[in-house]
Amino acid sequence: MTTFVLQLATLIGAFAFVWGLRLLSSPDSARRGNILAGVGMTIAIIATLLLPMEGAPNNYAWIFGGMIAGGGVGWVSARRIQMTAMPQMVSIFNGLGGACAVVLAMAELIAYYGGDNQMATGQVVIALLALLIGGVSFTGSMLAFAKLQGLIWDNTLTLPRHNVLNIILLAITLGVGIYLLTLGNGPLANTLAYVFLGLSLLYGFSFVIPIGGADMPVVISLLNSFTGLSAAAAGLIYNNQIMLVGGILVGAAGTILTVLMCEAMNRSLLNVLIGGFGGGGASTASAQGDQVVKEVSHNDAAIRLFYSDRVVFVPGYGLAVAQAQKVLKEVDDLLEANGVEVKYAIHPVAGRMPGHMNVLLAEADVPYPKLLDLDDANAALSDTDVVVVVGANDVVNPAAEDDPGSPIYGMPILRVWDAKNVIVLKRSMRPGYAGIQNPLFFHDKTNMLFGDAKDTLSKLTEEIKTL
Ligand code: TAP
Repeated sequence: MTTFVLQLATLIGAFAFVWGLRLLSSPDSARRGNILAGVGMTIAIIATLLLPMEGAPNNYAWIFGGMIAGGGVGWVSARRIQMTAMPQMVSIFNGLGGACAVVLAMAELIAYYGGDNQMATGQVVIALLALLIGGVSFTGSMLAFAKLQGLIWDNTLTLPRHNVLNIILLAITLGVGIYLLTLGNGPLANTLAYVFLGLSLLYGFSFVIPIGGADMPVVISLLNSFTGLSAAAAGLIYNNQIMLVGGILVGAAGTILTVLMCEAMNRSLLNVLIGGFGGGGASTASAQGDQVVKEVSHNDAAIRLFYSDRVVFVPGYGLAVAQAQKVLKEVDDLLEANGVEVKYAIHPVAGRMPGHMNVLLAEADVPYPKLLDLDDANAALSDTDVVVVVGANDVVNPAAEDDPGSPIYGMPILRVWDAKNVIVLKRSMRPGYAGIQNPLFFHDKTNMLFGDAKDTLSKLTEEIKTL
């Protein structure tokens, strides 16, 4: 009976995850979705704690100690985290999920190889998979964190023929895993399990190192799916359905996101994984020679916007850095009050995490129907009077279309120069994440408005109010 009630609780928890995910698909219901998924997780944890497990030692002190310590660190960091550092935080969470799977799988394997525990071959295979995928996810995500945080610059640790080395390393790791399966238990298997763990961790690091620049969104999504798969494998080891369901949901969501991000970059997954380009690579900067940029004053920019019929804002990472979303909405309101039609063009990899711009604009209460996706935006741009690029750079770089030597060549971009006028808000001529110069800034139709985006937009609101 108790088992039935607990399994029912597991089912309710799983249902809450799925329904919560569904609610996350719209900004209006996302908050409720998050809470529902959290409630599902709480039910799942309580049910799992109460589920009778034969022969399990009484280790509630360790469990609650871990939950309090982990929950405390998670709570404090989630409250303190700046919106701009959210992608790094997601990478750390991803990596820690992988690390959990590693610890669980390792504990089971060590007990088995030491003769304290029985495992069927199928279970050993799953434990080794959890170790491999979790290990790759852990070191890969920590490296992704370091790259996003700017602690390590892309390509600095890449070796010659790195991708060939990666294939060899993966083959050795899999070879050790298969050999382990033939050994059964004993001290040699015990030692080799540590070797297998070390190789998996090394592979995760080496696998992410050559990927960088504009390809980071793909690798982040892929690591996210690895974390889910490793959690699902750990759920199989313990025959814990809720862990399995949660892991599969994360794995599936991460895989779908990886496909979407590949589409956004117009690259195949294989191409991203073996192409391995990074920021700071070949730059088209020199191609600009001694060309100069044109600047526009706040007053001129305000007049152009105020007397337009259609204006499109293109938000990018700089909007998040400046935390300018609310002031941007103020400019939008002032323009709309004057009969200007205002839209927002959202590039799928703008910012530093999937949906970054959607989150920022939702925070400023920008109505969802005003957001145009890449294709709709490109179709609308030729009929637009002024495009205002707010802290975006790579996602509006024409080199993606006309410079075959550019690292972002082939990536679909927002063709902002199709509009009648382009105003770019940024602080300097520094490049964006991919580390390459942007010919858009030298385009005939482009005017630069230098300064922090929040500051500039505040000045624009003041100017517009005087018109
Ligand atoms: P970026 O190309 O990174 O350009 C952002 C621009 O914002 C910079 O050129 C910067 O110029 C400007 N900026 C920074 N702070 C500012 C401020 N306070 N006020 C005004 N401007 C400011 O951004 P993007 O166009 O959004 O492209 C995203 C890039 O990140 C792509 O390469 C993408 O592949 C990569 N990436 C995306 C993700 C996801 S999942 N979205 C994850 C990892 C990497 P100044 O310094 O001159 O101001």
